[in-house]
Amino acid sequence: MADDKNMVGDVYFPAPEVVSAAHISDYDKVHQAATEDLAGFWGKIAAENYEWYKPWETVLDDSNAPFYKWFVNAKVNIIHNALDRHMRTDTRNKAALIFEGEKGDTRVYTYQQLNHEVCKFASVLRSMGIDKGDRVTIYMGRIPELMIAMLACAKIGAMHSVVYGGFSTEALLGRIDDSKSKLLITCDGAWLRGSIIELKHIANEAVDRAGTIQSVICVKRTGHEVKMVSGRDYWYHDLMNLPVADPKAKTEVMDAEDPLFILYTSGTTGKPKAILHTHGGYMVWTSTTLKWVFDIKPEDVWWCAADPGWITGHSYIVYAPLVLGATSFMYEGAPTHPYPDRWWSLVAKYNITILYTAPTAIRGLMRFGRSWPGKHDLSSLRLLGSVGEPINPEAWKWYHRVIGQERCPIMDTWWQTETGGYMITPLPSVPLKPGSATRGFPGIQVDVVDEEGDPVAANEEGYLVIKAPWPGMLRTIFQDPDRYVQQYWSRFAEQGWYLPGDSAKKDEDGYIWVIGRIDDVIKVSGYRLGTAEIESALVSHAAVAEAACIGVPDPNEVKGNIIKAYCILRQGFEPSEKLSMALRDHVGHEMGPIAKPATVEFVDGLPKTRSGKIMRRILKARVMGQDEGDLSTLAD
Ligand code: WT7
Repeated sequence: MADDKNMVGDVYFPAPEVVSAAHISDYDKVHQAATEDLAGFWGKIAAENYEWYKPWETVLDDSNAPFYKWFVNAKVNIIHNALDRHMRTDTRNKAALIFEGEKGDTRVYTYQQLNHEVCKFASVLRSMGIDKGDRVTIYMGRIPELMIAMLACAKIGAMHSVVYGGFSTEALLGRIDDSKSKLLITCDGAWLRGSIIELKHIANEAVDRAGTIQSVICVKRTGHEVKMVSGRDYWYHDLMNLPVADPKAKTEVMDAEDPLFILYTSGTTGKPKAILHTHGGYMVWTSTTLKWVFDIKPEDVWWCAADPGWITGHSYIVYAPLVLGATSFMYEGAPTHPYPDRWWSLVAKYNITILYTAPTAIRGLMRFGRSWPGKHDLSSLRLLGSVGEPINPEAWKWYHRVIGQERCPIMDTWWQTETGGYMITPLPSVPLKPGSATRGFPGIQVDVVDEEGDPVAANEEGYLVIKAPWPGMLRTIFQDPDRYVQQYWSRFAEQGWYLPGDSAKKDEDGYIWVIGRIDDVIKVSGYRLGTAEIESALVSHAAVAEAACIGVPDPNEVKGNIIKAYCILRQGFEPSEKLSMALRDHVGHEMGPIAKPATVEFVDGLPKTRSGKIMRRILKARVMGQDEGDLSTLAD
């Protein structure tokens, strides 16, 4: 096939009009300025673009690294910048959120209307005894009330802990217990592919077993009957109609370093980690990255097609667009419901200007062919984005040609729950190479190094490292500071570098090509799952004595990776196709459908180290027909 417009070989050069119109048209200059004086650079941005109740004394305190502090002793609340301050300008009459449900119902909230709802719900939460620093678990579908609940927590200084609506009882229960949440906010159900996900039912199972939940607030979404426990459960709409729901509620004054939220993510070993982000640094980082990478302008309609339950949604559906005073679009349901052109019809209907999604979604939609997007006018689009896993050049090119009509540069953004916002990413003015997230965001010092920390040669694989702190970095793992140090800062402790847990290559031009995880994290359809959680779900079944899981490339090339599970059965259980199916369903029930293994195999033993750790890399090498590598630590 011929090269796309503006492509020379494998490099895409943005059109001159794109470069000149962008917020940042000279990457090198800005990157250099940020590199030379990191604190000065961020101090200036923070002072010019946000309102602080009280300014900071120091921009960056690194005296207790890796427990970095940003905007030390400043007073702020992200809600003051996301909502309150917009009430004084024309922004208050602008659409903050445009929503469409899977069934086609629509809602638009102006900034003023959104603020009204957030204030009311914030005062409801206060009236229920939720205080600054308390944890509130939110388990909902993709509807505006999810956003309102998160914002209301932030407004009163409570920490939200959002659990993705695709997770199930065990996953929800574990996250409630670990965070010691007092309150759960959920809904009666969520629409997906024309049917109802029984969120309240799952929540009831979890809350019945959880130790700390005192009350449950339930939003009516589907209207079907659900079990409400008297004295514990309240309908959202009832509470919002009480006189206590004050539309002028005050925003809590927070320290810049006070926690904004925790969000659980899978790690190398053991239970999921509660990643903690703060009011000040996270606000500056997420909104500046969004503004520069997706070049947000007042007239844009920004669609981040992620779920608010993941960091992508936290940062780029909920917080950053509101801080920028932008208009966001949110869609509740599946991209292919009722037909594979649903997304494209939404782009045309709402004149979406920027679409941000994951490679797995692009590959999934690509399967249906170009005739589905071809039915719709996609000319409003000016920029596209990708996140979650490496995008294969084939999907990149389809996205570029068929959706972006060779007009829209693609921002391939590499980042993590831990980083709060974009870390390795192009800006619209940067030449692109399909499959590479290009270079560090201005001020981000990224490199690829070997075991000793020396840079590897061009195009050699090595550890991805980040060499300097940034305002949006996680501050700790909630209630587990040792694990924070161990997990992210111990591998290159001497150098003081952050270890994301990915392997990568760097090419001659300094462009980064992320390869994948080096730890026991499996990326399925861009979702991050820990082998430990899936394995413990398997072992919770009566038939299973021991289990190991690995991720291998999806043979159908949609999900990125699929999960393969290996189980040792307990005495009295025989391998069978039926049992294999039952175990897959069991994981689906315990963890959620995304964690369901594609295959479950029965084995007599698992490769282990002498200390008893399962060597998953050996299982993986066998499946992939690769060299098994160093076997010296293998027990037998
Ligand atoms: C892991 C983090 C942060 C948004 C969603 C994922 C992988 C993420 C890319 C990309 C290659 C990517 C990495 C990373 N990843 N974006 N553009 N290219 N890989 O957040 O669930 O915390 O997962 O996702 O492996 O470590 P997350």
